[in-house]
Amino acid sequence: MREKGASGQTVGGDQAKPARALRALVIHGPNLNLLGEREPEVYGRTKLRDIDRELKRLGRELGMTVETFQSNSEGAIVDCIQQARNRADVILINPGAYTHTSIAIRDAFAAVSAPVIEVHLSNVYKREPFRHHSTIADLVVGRIMGFGAEGYYLALRAASKMASVTVEKP
Ligand code: DQA
Repeated sequence: MREKGASGQTVGGDQAKPARALRALVIHGPNLNLLGEREPEVYGRTKLRDIDRELKRLGRELGMTVETFQSNSEGAIVDCIQQARNRADVILINPGAYTHTSIAIRDAFAAVSAPVIEVHLSNVYKREPFRHHSTIADLVVGRIMGFGAEGYYLALRAASKMASVTVEKP
């Protein structure tokens, strides 16, 4: 059986030799630069730089390269997604409040073939109704929420597993 990673490289079966490390891009949306000090009872006390450091460490353990990006600006996030078009094999995103409003971020993902995983620190369904809608929910492979910073690490592990179980169609 031949298996293909998210980037199309062979990752399993008889030829279990990835051509190169899987490239993950992690995007953090608005206000996530204040993690640790912003509403810690909702978002926890872990700082964004610590999450990014752990993502890179975990990536090395999983044989992936991890690039991280944070912006408070919707346009900068759209630019980042566009630039990842031919570079990222998988994208993790916590779009912050843009989750609930941004058609531009949705359209950017619609133009990108890399699989996307949506991450939220809090369980948005336990919160205000305006947080229940996500403009990208139907485009993403899956959504992880409610586990705080751990959600990012679960998402990276899921991305790595996904790459090794995606079986090539005949
Ligand atoms: C969030 C949830 C959003 O509703 C909120 O606007 C955020 C963070 C989360 O990670 O739980 O900024 O995406």
